[in-house]
Amino acid sequence: MTGPRKLFVKSYGCQMNVYDSHRMADTLAAEGYVETATPDDADLIVLNTCHIRERAAEKVYSELGRMRVLKQQAAQQGREIKVAVAGCVAQAEGQEILRRAPTVDLVFGPQSYHRLPDMLERAKSGKVVDTEFPPEDKFDHLAAPSKAATRKRGVSAFITVQEGCDKFCTFCVVPYTRGSEVSRPVEKIVAEATRLAEAGVREITLIGQNVNGYHGEDAGGRAATLGQLLHCLADIPGVARLRYSTSHPCDMDDSLIAAHRDLPALMPQLHLPVQSGSDRILEAMNRRHTRADYLRIVDRMRAVRPNIAFTSDIIVGFPGETDRDFADTMKLVDDVGFVTAYTFKYSPRPGTPAAEMDQLPEAIKDERLQRLQRDIAARQAAFLASQQGVTFDVLFEKSGRYPGQIVGRSPYLQPVQVMGPTSLIGEIASVTVTELSANSLFGALAGSLVSSLAKAPARADHPQTEAAQIEAAGA
Ligand code: 5AD
Ligand code: SF4
Repeated sequence: MTGPRKLFVKSYGCQMNVYDSHRMADTLAAEGYVETATPDDADLIVLNTCHIRERAAEKVYSELGRMRVLKQQAAQQGREIKVAVAGCVAQAEGQEILRRAPTVDLVFGPQSYHRLPDMLERAKSGKVVDTEFPPEDKFDHLAAPSKAATRKRGVSAFITVQEGCDKFCTFCVVPYTRGSEVSRPVEKIVAEATRLAEAGVREITLIGQNVNGYHGEDAGGRAATLGQLLHCLADIPGVARLRYSTSHPCDMDDSLIAAHRDLPALMPQLHLPVQSGSDRILEAMNRRHTRADYLRIVDRMRAVRPNIAFTSDIIVGFPGETDRDFADTMKLVDDVGFVTAYTFKYSPRPGTPAAEMDQLPEAIKDERLQRLQRDIAARQAAFLASQQGVTFDVLFEKSGRYPGQIVGRSPYLQPVQVMGPTSLIGEIASVTVTELSANSLFGALAGSLVSSLAKAPARADHPQTEAAQIEAAGA
C-alpha cells in the first residue's frame, strides 16, 4: 500500500443522505480512508442513493455502467476499486443490484452503515448484501467526525435525530425503504451538537424523514418532543441558529409551536409539506389532515412568530386530481403565501397504493406543474425583493468570489454577500440589504457584531452550507 486508501462518496437526494455520507466517511476515516473529490483515483466508491425520484433505480444502474468502465480501467493499471451501493435504492433493490450490475461489490441499506468496516472485510472474499434493519443503534457505532472534518464541512451542520416514517402517504416509498419511526435519545443528540459547536459549528439543522414526530428518550426515560429537544440544544454555548426539516402538519404540537415563540435561535422559517390544497386529494393521499387544519397551523405559527416564512412540498397530478382540486392547491399556495416550494409531478412508485390508482395523462400533469412553478417562481422573486433595505442577522460562512467579499446566510437561508473581513467567518453580524440579484442579496455590515465566540477557530475555507444546496425529503 502506497498511501492512505481513498474514498469517493456520491450523495443523491435528501439531506439525510448527505448526513449519512458524512458519517460513512467519518467511520471509514477511522479505518484509514481519506476522501477524494473524484471517483477516478478512489479505492472505494460509495453511491449513496435516493429512491424518492422517478426512475431512481434506473439512474443508479446507468451510473453503475460508468463505474464498471472505471473499474476496468483501474484493473488494467493493477489497481482494485470496490464499488458499493448504499441508501434507499440499495434497500429497495437488494440482491437485484448484484444481478443487474455485477461490477458492484457491496449493497447495503441506510440502517447498516455502521457495519461498513466489517462489510469491507467480508467483501475481500465475496459480494456483500446487507439490507436488514439491525437491532443495534447504528449511531452508537458510527465514528464521530474529527474536529478538522467538521470544520471543513462548514459552520452549518446537520444532525439526524429521527429516521423512518409511519405515516404511509399513498404516494411515498419512505415508510418502505427507511422503515418505521425511530428517534435518537436526547442525551446523544446534545452530545453530538456540543461536539459540533466546539469545532466551530454555529447553525444546526435537525433532520429526519418526519422530524417533528420526534419522540426520543430524555434523561428521565420519558419521550421528549421536538420542542423539548430544541430547548436543550438552544442552551449549548456556540449554537446560534437552529432549524429542523422535514415536518408533517399533524405533528406540529403545542411544544413545537411554543419553541418558535420562546427560542430566538430557532430560525423564522418552516418547511411544512402540504402536498395538495384539496381535501379530497389530501384524503386520497392519506395525509390525515384537511386544508383548514393546515391553515390553522399557519395561523398559530404566525401568532407566535409574525415574521415566519413557510416553504413546502407540493405534488400535482395525483390520481383523480380534477381542475377544481388543482385550483384548490393554487388557492392554498396563495392563502399561505409560501415563499417558495419544491414542486413535483406525481409519478407512481411501484409498491405504493397510489401506483394502483387510475393515473392522469402526462399532458395534464405537465400543464399543472408549469402553472404552479410559474406561480412559485414569482413568489420567490417577490420574497427576495421584499428584503431590499431590510436589516437582519447574517451567519458568515466563507470568503466570496471577489477579494474582500464574504458570504453568509440570512435567517431565511438566502445567500448574502458583503464586503467584510474574513475574521467574520463563523460569526453573526447585522447586515442591511443594499442590492438584489436573481438569487442573492448584497448588503453592508450594519456595524454591530451580533454574536462572537471568544475561541472561534479561523475558518477561511468553508464550503457552502449544505442546507441550501440540497433538497428536502420526507414528511
Ligand atoms: N411522486 C411525486 N412526488 C413525490 N414525493 C414523494 N413521493 C412522490 C411521488 N410518488 C415528493 C413529496 C415529498 C417530497 C420529498 O417528494 O412532495 O414531500
Ligand atoms: Fe412519511 Fe413524508 Fe413519505 Fe408521507 S411523504 S409517508 S409523511 S416521508
